[in-house]
Amino acid sequence: MEKYILPDIPDYHKLEVYEQHGGYQALRKVLQMKPDEVIEEVKKSSLRGRGGACFPTGLKWSFMPKGNDRPKYLCVNGDESEPGTFKDRMIFEFNPHQMIEGILIGCYAMGITTAYLYIRGEYRKWIKMVDAALADAYAKGYVGENILGSGFSTNIYTHSGAGAYICGEESALMNSIEGDRGYPRVKPPFPAAKGVFGMPTTINNVETMTNVPLIINKGAEWYSKIGVAKHPGPILVGISGHVNKPGVYEVPTGVPLLTLINDPQYGGGVPNGKKIKAVIPGGSSTMVLRGENLEGVCMDADSLKAAGSSVGTAGLIVMDEDTDMIKVIKRISHFYHHESCGQCTPCREGTGWMEKMLTRFEKGEAREEDIEILLDVANNIEGNTICALGDAAAWPVQSFIKRFREEFENKVERKETAAA
Ligand SMILES: Cc1cc2nc3c(=O)[nH]c(=O)nc-3n(C[C@H](O)[C@H](O)[C@H](O)COP(=O)(O)O)c2cc1C
Repeated sequence: MEKYILPDIPDYHKLEVYEQHGGYQALRKVLQMKPDEVIEEVKKSSLRGRGGACFPTGLKWSFMPKGNDRPKYLCVNGDESEPGTFKDRMIFEFNPHQMIEGILIGCYAMGITTAYLYIRGEYRKWIKMVDAALADAYAKGYVGENILGSGFSTNIYTHSGAGAYICGEESALMNSIEGDRGYPRVKPPFPAAKGVFGMPTTINNVETMTNVPLIINKGAEWYSKIGVAKHPGPILVGISGHVNKPGVYEVPTGVPLLTLINDPQYGGGVPNGKKIKAVIPGGSSTMVLRGENLEGVCMDADSLKAAGSSVGTAGLIVMDEDTDMIKVIKRISHFYHHESCGQCTPCREGTGWMEKMLTRFEKGEAREEDIEILLDVANNIEGNTICALGDAAAWPVQSFIKRFREEFENKVERKETAAA
């Protein structure tokens, strides 16, 4: 299949190579269109956000108020801190100009003159790469004042995170940009009404923005026919864990998970021919699935929903038959406990209780009733916090108990301890 986000073209990250292959033509085209026409085209394409929630991008853009009486902002989310998710950094490294072009198109469509590109702090190398690409785009007149003589101006600034997963949550990200502690904000007001610096703001993921030039160049109809109709387009799948070829693979939406895991052009199968015990399909916050239930399950929003999970950020974590599921969920819960910002009591306290209880299971010190108590704690976090970090912490615990209950029971009954 042809690749549109990570094409196999040497030096595609360089401006001149990107231009040779039609780069920045979508921007030129858009500058001749009315902003509303651009939003309509993105709506028609059915592009859905690649940051985790699959929200329709064109619809989100249409929430922005019209008129320029107040400054408006675009925040592009490259915080990428969820375990199992490592795809945006491929765009930073191999196709930064398509992302920049997408950002410019979004700014034009929504009447935005300032965009912040928020990049995970640990991504030093990639921040430098993006800054270099931006400098080249500025020098060529694609970014900055009076872009290509159109009278339209936009500045793009990179902003480095400082190692906090919570700053990927859109309202925490905005506080972080403002120089405040990365605490999520209560919604409403939603960002389109009151976002960064109190002004109308749209937040989109890096991969989402990188899809936009394709839609403009080739048309919404063409785009909407790639992959699955309700969740179309190319998607970057990060495959990690027990596979022979971990990595980031571009596929159309709707590819079966078993193909992604086993096909030699993707994950290349489980090492030593072992069976798949479990997969987490979309980054650590998405619900775990049992290996024997993967037949017919595909990498798209509806298919994964029907299977009892979600597409998230398409970070597919594969676990083989020898995996100790208690050890895995304990590790995941440690992450969410560590990353909870502490603002909401259910998340601040609950994530700690879950980690403590899972440590008891791991040591074989759990009591029979602890399974229900653990589930109760998770259920009391879900839906009871300002942001979705609480849900992200609860879902893995709920789904591990639901789908691998026997492993919890074994730890109680036989007082077995997790393998070292
Ligand atoms: C705790 C938490 C962390 C998040 N981290 C990221 C992230 O690193 N990158 C991202 O794009 N979205 C992240 N999100 C989702 C964003 O809040 C937001 O929905 C997304 O950036 C919107 O972009 P999209 O519509 O293009 O998908 C996170 C959400 C939560 C609750």
